[in-house]
Amino acid sequence: MRKQIAAANWKMNCTYQQGEQLLDDILSANIALKEHQQTIFAVPFPYLIMAKSETENENNYFVAAQNCYNKKSGAYTGEVSVEMLQSIGIPFVVLGHSERREYFQESNKMLAEKVDLSLQYDITPIFCCGEPLNIREAGTQNSFVEVQLKESLFHLSEKDIKRVVIAYEPIWAIGTGKTASSEQAQEMHAHLRSVLAKQYGAAVADEISILYGGSVKANNAKELFSQPDVDGGLVGGASLNAAEFTTIISSLK
Ligand code: PGA
Repeated sequence: MRKQIAAANWKMNCTYQQGEQLLDDILSANIALKEHQQTIFAVPFPYLIMAKSETENENNYFVAAQNCYNKKSGAYTGEVSVEMLQSIGIPFVVLGHSERREYFQESNKMLAEKVDLSLQYDITPIFCCGEPLNIREAGTQNSFVEVQLKESLFHLSEKDIKRVVIAYEPIWAIGTGKTASSEQAQEMHAHLRSVLAKQYGAAVADEISILYGGSVKANNAKELFSQPDVDGGLVGGASLNAAEFTTIISSLK
């Protein structure tokens, strides 16, 4: 079975102490993950080492960075490189979140460079894609998201694309409380898988986990995750509440 993943995206929230408490509360629920299930905490940079040590002895619980820079090293004041993440043992990085694309002008090309660097340093990219409301209203979301994949991922070899996790996050559903219906999510996830299959073949496409993100909550996770092509979620707001997020973890297939 494909990996089923509950990924928490804390964004720019929590103090160090609040973050530590949140992790303690979630981990003390002792939810045993099956072999094919993973929980990932994408925390702010200053908390990565703390979160890593909190999760170190937990089976299939991991930590992710929320971003990295698209250059190896050098005079880029304030930026964080993939090599730095690797040197503290971080296995995942979220790339191309719509907030990065919108507020920090991250282009598909820049994201392709970030994807390449992450893979080079053995860090799994959680690559985000998704359309804004006007594109959804015009009904052109399928081709919009397809271009995001093509321009940032389709230069990868068959071996490397299998190392990427994809997160479909319709922008109109992020932080708005307006979740895509499970049918809308399934429809897009099936489309993404068919686009991957066209490029890499059905067997490869079948191995790639595609997460849904956008107002995933304790009360809708089970239904969303039960869709055949939805392999878990990337969760913002609800991941900041231990009771909500533990229910979301428990909703994985
Ligand atoms: P949300 O955020 O769950 O608060 O909608 C999801 C995300 O942006 O990753």
